[in-house]
Formats: sequence, C-alpha cells, structure tokens
Amino acid sequence: MKTCLVLGAGGFIGKNLCKQLSKKYRIVAYDIFRSSDLEGIDNLEMVKGNYIETQDFTEILTGVDIVFHLISTTIPSEDTDNIEREIIENVVPTVRLLNNMVKCGVKDIIFFSSGGTIYGETGNHINQVSDKLNPICSYGVQKKTIESYLEFFGRCHDINYKIVRISNPYGIGQDPTKPQGVIPIFIYKLLNNEPITVYGDGNNERDYIYMDDLIDALLKVSEYNGEQHIFNVGSGKAHTLHDIIDIIIQKSGMNFTNIIYKDIRKCDVSKTLLDIGETESELNWVPQVDIEMGISKVLDYYSIRNI
Ligand SMILES: NC(=O)c1ccc[n+]([C@@H]2O[C@H](COP(=O)([O-])OP(=O)(O)OC[C@H]3O[C@@H](n4cnc5c(N)ncnc54)[C@H](O)[C@@H]3O)[C@@H](O)[C@H]2O)c1
Repeated sequence: MKTCLVLGAGGFIGKNLCKQLSKKYRIVAYDIFRSSDLEGIDNLEMVKGNYIETQDFTEILTGVDIVFHLISTTIPSEDTDNIEREIIENVVPTVRLLNNMVKCGVKDIIFFSSGGTIYGETGNHINQVSDKLNPICSYGVQKKTIESYLEFFGRCHDINYKIVRISNPYGIGQDPTKPQGVIPIFIYKLLNNEPITVYGDGNNERDYIYMDDLIDALLKVSEYNGEQHIFNVGSGKAHTLHDIIDIIIQKSGMNFTNIIYKDIRKCDVSKTLLDIGETESELNWVPQVDIEMGISKVLDYYSIRNI
C-alpha cells in the first residue's frame, strides 16, 4: 500500500479527501489541529504540526510516495495586511517542503490552487489553464507564486507536480461559521433566521462544484500519468448569487429574514467560470451533481442537524 502525506488534512476538503484516500493509501494526516472528523478513518495516522514553523519536513516525508498540499493560512481578502503573510506563511514553507522532497527523493505532489482567484477579472471569458494569470487579490498571487515554484522544481529537480485549480467547492461538512463558502453560510443564516449579506448587486457569477465531484476528480488526478500538469476543477457552469438565493428559497420552502447589500469587495471578480473540457477528457471525469441537487443535499444535512 502506498503512503500519502496530506497537509491540511483536517480542513473542509482534506477530511473529505482522506475518507476516500484511505481506501487506497496509508495516510499521514498533518494539521495544526487534531480533527475529530479524521478519527476512525482506516489507515490514517494524525500528525500535529505547524506548517509555518516546521523547518525540517524530512521526518514526515520518510516513506511517503505522494504529497497532497492543502494548507493555506489565508483566504481571498481585500485586506493588504495579508500580503506578507501570504509569502512568509505559505510561499516560504512550500519552497522548504519542496527542497525537503528533493532531499528525501519524494517525487509526487498535488497542490491545491485557486481557480476562482488566479485568473483575475476576465469578464465573460471562460478560463482556460493556458490563460494568462492576473489575480486581483494577494491570495491569488500566493497561489500563482507557488505554482511557479512547482514548475521550477519540476524543471530543475524532476518533481512530478500536479496543480488543481479548484473553483468554489461546497458540500457536507463545510463550517458555516467561517467566512468562506456562501452556500453553507446562507443556509445556516436561513435556518437561524438571520439576515444574509451580499457584496455587490448579487449578479456576480461563480462556478460552484459539489464536494463529491471534486474528490472524484482529485482521486483521478492522483492516478493520472499523462502530460498535463494543471487541471481546472469546477462544474463548468456559472451561477449568480441571486440564483443561489433563489434555489435555497425554493428547495427549503423558507425565506430569508433580510438581504443586506454592501459595496462589492475589491478582491471579488465579476465572474469566474472554468473551462473543464481538458480535465474531463484527460481524467475521464464528468461532474455529476448539479447545483439544485447539491444545495438540496447541503440543506438536508444542516436541517437534520438542527444547526
Ligand atoms: N474552500 C475553498 O473555497 C477553496 C477554493 C479553492 C482552493 N482552495 C484551496 O484548497 C485548500 C484546502 O481548502 P479548505 O477549504 O479545505 O481549507 P480549510 O481552511 O478548511 O483547511 C485548511 C487546513 O489547513 C490547516 N492549517 C492551516 N494553517 C496551518 C498551519 N500553519 N500548519 C498546519 N496546518 C494548518 C487548517 O487547520 C485546516 O485544517 C487550500 O489550499 C485552499 O486555498 C479552497
């Protein structure tokens, strides 16, 4: 059985990924917190560590065949205070990790990049992997910089890197009290009779991908042996915030107490839509869960739990 190191295993994507990876891999699940969601998963060993402070990754890389890198200490934000953090907490440790991979002879890494921020403001254009990258937030610059170092380590040190540019994932187990993920946040507010906040006029469009479809794509990326290094992973469909609000109202039979409109944030592009054609053909993968079905699943999950 091969061994994978999952960095950021306790997060929203990480815990969903580990459940599926455990069917094929022995997992070293690295995170700053011990997540109860990881307890009971077969073949999984939790390792607690701080990515920013770890100077030497050689011990946790010993015996590892493939690294899944899901740690980001920041999320998209218009806050310029984050710029130094992006570099110190994300870029520098990742370069350190890559150097340690070279030292330990670990060749394979999958990096979780951002399809929603890395292309920047492209209007109605459908973003392709070959497009120029013009992020408008420093989080996107962080992802772009790490992508460049991965290409460099691929070229100069024979590291077999794969980059997944993920759109807007949503699904079961997403923490609705965190500031990322409008679908669980809106559902949480609806069920708790709280108003929701919309930045802009609600016509911003995003490409939402359901977690099961994302995990399916990630497993296929991990098995992929072709020439492609970068994969757009989204649904290939765009929906406005108003669409999302309408679907939630329709599926729940409830209404929001109030919708508060605020100025659009500088970090928000008007539209993100990923071209997933190449990903579909290279991975033999097609997303299965449409937005209505996905929202229903999340709604059922939170309604049953009475959050
Ligand atoms: N969720 C999204 O909307 C989205 C979209 C595109 C890309 N991504 C990327 O995918 C990856 C995973 O996203 P997620 O939604 O699961 O994030 P998350 O915040 O839920 O999980 C990240 C995990 O990393 C851990 N972590 C953070 N700082 C750490 C540190 N210093 N040391 C050790 N562990 C640390 C956290 O404890 C957490 O468990 C991230 O790189 C993110 O940028 C996420």
